[in-house]
Amino acid sequence: VDPLRHLDEDLAALGSRGLLREPPAPSSPRLLDLCSNDYLGYAAEPCLPPAGWQPWPSLSLRSGAGASRLVAGHDPSHEEAETTLASWLGAEAALLFSSGYAANAGVLSALARPGDVIVSDALNHASIIDGCRLSGATVRVVPHCDASAVDAALAASTASHRWVVTEAYFSMDGDNPDLPSLRAICDRHDAALIVDEAHALGVFGPRGTGLCATAGIRPDVLVGTAGKALGLQGAFVAGSRRLRLWLWNRARSFVFSTGISPALASAIAIRARRAAADEPARVRLASAAARLREGLIVLGVAGGTALGGQGHIIPWVVGTPERAVQLSMRLREHGVRVQAIRPPTVPAGTSRLRITATAGLTDADIDRALQAFRAAIG
Ligand SMILES: Cc1ncc(COP(=O)(O)O)c(C=O)c1O
Repeated sequence: VDPLRHLDEDLAALGSRGLLREPPAPSSPRLLDLCSNDYLGYAAEPCLPPAGWQPWPSLSLRSGAGASRLVAGHDPSHEEAETTLASWLGAEAALLFSSGYAANAGVLSALARPGDVIVSDALNHASIIDGCRLSGATVRVVPHCDASAVDAALAASTASHRWVVTEAYFSMDGDNPDLPSLRAICDRHDAALIVDEAHALGVFGPRGTGLCATAGIRPDVLVGTAGKALGLQGAFVAGSRRLRLWLWNRARSFVFSTGISPALASAIAIRARRAAADEPARVRLASAAARLREGLIVLGVAGGTALGGQGHIIPWVVGTPERAVQLSMRLREHGVRVQAIRPPTVPAGTSRLRITATAGLTDADIDRALQAFRAAIG
């Protein structure tokens, strides 16, 4: 007997609803990628340093930390990456996590407690949702990007600790909350503001410092990832030294997990400096995103709507999972990879193609992509 045999039935049920996701077959190298988060185009570069590269003293190429940072896994390269990230963002301190998922789960569960209230945007990422659940706090989910609903939820709560959590640039919708209003509302209610800048960091703001910096506000807790614009893996939380020390002690996804590879921490330090200075990549990205978005609107994709807000994430909401998969397959036949995004990643009825621009796309790539869209729609 196989105690996992019931999974056959469960998988078949997912399949019958158009929701089964399978690991991709090795794809043809000729596919043009329009769904990655490698916004600045760094990820394809080799992770080994060029021959003769000498790490500066605080960096190392050790492959493994060997233990949790609290035990024997602390390496100077962790500190170097954290200091670099903190000074990039103008924060007092930063703390590395093994992924953005681990950062959000760890931060929310370390900070919020039973009896607290967390006000969470309806479209926040799964890692934020799971962090809220893990915390045991009361979660008030408010309509997407609705600052007045946040205000009302805080006004209605008598909890002594209140938290507001949002993405800075929504990963599946390409839109953003009114961060100055959220900051003002939090200040008025003595609540803390947690902002996940996963898809904004490296892309928006002065020196790529994100949308809080663009808005001229400071969140109490900023979450950033290295797996998106920095083209690596891992994540971090930036804020006060007190916050860092609390997370060092209480973020379970940090405390009970092997420190990230020192070589990766070194790469994060190097990439953060590079991203901060890489205005040309940001300009290329913005112009690729505008050309792609305008071309799609001209084609009549999504009825010629604005396709989300602005920027490098262009959501084409098509409704059913089957329609999203069908379009994704047709695009693939025409040489373009755009993955179908279905529940539970997005709410039921809003399956979509999440189209992303990256700095490496040339005008010719975009024209080729638009031809593929024309053929796929037709
Ligand atoms: C808003 C947001 N936060 C966190 C994460 C998780 O980051 P990571 O891929 O580093 O686990 C993602 C990415 O999937 C995301 O979109």
